[in-house]
Amino acid sequence: MNGWIKRIIPRQLTSRLRAARAYLQLRPEKRALIQEIITSGGGLHGESFRFFEDGLCTIHNADFADDARFIRAYAAGEATGSWKGWPLRWRAYLICWCAEWATKMDGDFVECGVNKGGNARMIIEYLGHQSYNRNFYLLDTFEGFSKDLLLPEEEKSVAARYRYPNCLEEVRKTFAPYPFVKIIPGTVPATLPEIEASRIAFLSIDMNCVAPEIEAATYLWDRLVPGGIIILDDYGFSQHHLQKAAFDHFAEAKGVRIMSLPTGQGLIFKPMRLAAPA
Ligand SMILES: C[S@@+](CC[C@H](N)C(=O)[O-])C[C@H]1O[C@@H](n2cnc3c(N)ncnc32)[C@H](O)[C@@H]1O
Repeated sequence: MNGWIKRIIPRQLTSRLRAARAYLQLRPEKRALIQEIITSGGGLHGESFRFFEDGLCTIHNADFADDARFIRAYAAGEATGSWKGWPLRWRAYLICWCAEWATKMDGDFVECGVNKGGNARMIIEYLGHQSYNRNFYLLDTFEGFSKDLLLPEEEKSVAARYRYPNCLEEVRKTFAPYPFVKIIPGTVPATLPEIEASRIAFLSIDMNCVAPEIEAATYLWDRLVPGGIIILDDYGFSQHHLQKAAFDHFAEAKGVRIMSLPTGQGLIFKPMRLAAPA
């Protein structure tokens, strides 16, 4: 580690960072063993941790994880291979919660950043596709980032870290039983006009890069119905700080504030009525 970094970061913190890096490099079975040891040992005030996954460790109630409906939906999402075996149940639970909330509104569902369709497949399973009476638009290149839309910093960070091989045919197969799913391959923002919905109740934005995400939110904001919801997958993740800054600015311009969640996600509810500025 560089000398100047060592001077500004207290020693205790550098050793924690080293430990975290070492932990992430462990094989999944070893990570699971460490999690088991920690969760069975002392949490806070003598309470054991009940949840330790995907950067989130808490003693608080996590009984959604035992709910049969959620378990089934999560398994369906995971089976697509979209999450590459990375466990992310609390994030997934929040997506399910938001999707269910959005069914109380009149409007279609949209996801920008789909990969193999993990979230979308999970949502359909969770809500039960028989009762699902709206379109679900899925927008993605289905072959990874569009290089010309990445900032120089993103080229070195997220684009170097995440690889998304072509998966369009796989996605078409996954959603073939669901005619209400409209797959829109291509680069966001160019494909946004292909969304035929005039009312949107649920918008998930998860493209891991700032420019197309902000373009999507800006383009679709007016179609989001009052009470409709935007869920930002990357909002609180440290490597996605550019998205946080850009979305905070976006939200301020729209007169709303983003709810920052301990899962790393960010939530925006479109108000039923925007109050006039004080
Ligand atoms: C983190 S993955 C999405 C994960 C997904 N929400 C799920 O349920 O697993 C990010 C996706 O964004 C897509 N993407 C990145 N930039 C894009 C752009 N400009 N237009 C369309 N898709 C893009 C990538 O191809 C990749 O599939």
